[in-house]
Amino acid sequence: MRNPRSILITGASSGIGAALARLYAAKGVALTLGGRDAGRLAKVAADCRSAGAEVREAIVDVTNLAAMEGWVAEADRLRPVDLVIANAGISAGTADGEEGAEQLRAVFAVNVDGAFNTVLPLLPAMRQRRRGQIALMSSLASFRGFPGAPAYSASKAALRVWGEGLRGDLHRTGITVSVICPGFVASPMTSDNPFPMPMLMPVEQAARIIRRGLAKDRARIAFPLPMYAAAWLLGALPPALTDSWMRRLPKKR
Ligand SMILES: NC(=O)c1ccc[n+]([C@@H]2O[C@H](COP(=O)([O-])OP(=O)(O)OC[C@H]3O[C@@H](n4cnc5c(N)ncnc54)[C@H](OP(=O)(O)O)[C@@H]3O)[C@@H](O)[C@H]2O)c1
Repeated sequence: MRNPRSILITGASSGIGAALARLYAAKGVALTLGGRDAGRLAKVAADCRSAGAEVREAIVDVTNLAAMEGWVAEADRLRPVDLVIANAGISAGTADGEEGAEQLRAVFAVNVDGAFNTVLPLLPAMRQRRRGQIALMSSLASFRGFPGAPAYSASKAALRVWGEGLRGDLHRTGITVSVICPGFVASPMTSDNPFPMPMLMPVEQAARIIRRGLAKDRARIAFPLPMYAAAWLLGALPPALTDSWMRRLPKKR
């Protein structure tokens, strides 16, 4: 969608979500911003108001289905949502040992259920209006299971594949779906990665690429290109060829 006027973003208190909120903020734009850290979210909201946007921010945990249904429905009632960006996410890895059940479930609860809780309450109204754009924040880590972050890469794969299917399923309803697959972006999420991050990108640059891709209704917004090519190849090669190399990669904390 070229000029969305009502945009809902989860995980807007930090990193990519905050950068997207600031980038879209302008006169005539209504932003509904969600996050958990009240101080950081208020700062982002204030910046967006200074840029002329109408902003409603809320402390809401994406894993809380009832709270999300209420928040999203209210936002849509006040300003019918043109674009929803299901961005909130957490990362976790195996640098400190094997991944336990608790970590696995926590990552899926936020990254997968949290995205469902963001998007699904909007679908009936978007269907009725025959208009709307859904953006799902996946990752280049979705193209291959990483031993250093099994749950994280699996959660992002689930989101990517769901989004690809949903895009086709919603074809002809007037609703479009884009899946965003960034490489390394400099944010609090990556700030303590104990390994070199090739082609690490500033968060503002990532937000600009995402906005451009969404304006063109791209099915997949994957960047930077050389990292996308590498991730794609890793996913395409037989695991038997890549397993031992993958095992030697540094692990996420
Ligand atoms: N940075 C990268 O290199 C990279 C690459 C590929 C994909 N991604 C994805 O991009 C998205 C944003 O990541 P980021 O780099 O911007 O990380 P970030 O700075 O850590 O931001 C994560 C955001 O998600 C919110 N969040 C986390 N758990 C939540 C919950 N249970 N309920 C509501 N909000 C929650 C956080 O809110 P609070 O801070 O208020 O708790 C924060 O606003 C994530 O989905 C991530 O997986 C990032």
